[in-house]
Amino acid sequence: MRSDEAILAQLLSLSWRGIVRIIAVMNQKGGTGKTTTVVNLGFALAQSGLQTLLVDLDAQGNLGVSFGIEGERGLYHILVDGSDPNACAVNVRSHLHLISSNETVACAD
Ligand SMILES: Nc1ncnc2c1ncn2[C@@H]1O[C@H](COP(=O)(O)OP(=O)(O)OP(=O)(O)O)[C@@H](O)[C@H]1O
Ligand SMILES: [Mg+2]
Repeated sequence: MRSDEAILAQLLSLSWRGIVRIIAVMNQKGGTGKTTTVVNLGFALAQSGLQTLLVDLDAQGNLGVSFGIEGERGLYHILVDGSDPNACAVNVRSHLHLISSNETVACAD
């Protein structure tokens, strides 16, 4: 079994047992596949039937672009305006929700 398949299998096993998992994908270096990893891992988990929430912390906002959403309330509104995270999470695919970012998030740093 490939290592990424093994990791996914382990996550699915834990999640089915009711354990919430938070996975952070981060790397200071640009262009290393962070967004691509989040899109594909998130979609794979959601397709497996797990309720999955993606939170984009990058002011480039590429996750929103990837799922075709724009102009929604997102992370900035949660951090700065105190908006309810539930109201800012957009259902982008079955079992898959997204709290998006854009350049306004840079102001919240
Ligand atoms: N496993 C892979 N094999 C080949 N190309 C890949 C792979 N993963 C991502 N890429 C490509 O590498 C480029 C950068 O990927 P991505 O945007 O996911 O990186 P990033 O770390 O999120 O970048 P940034 O730091 O700008 O946010 C994209 O063109 C993407 O299609
Ligand atoms: Mg990115």
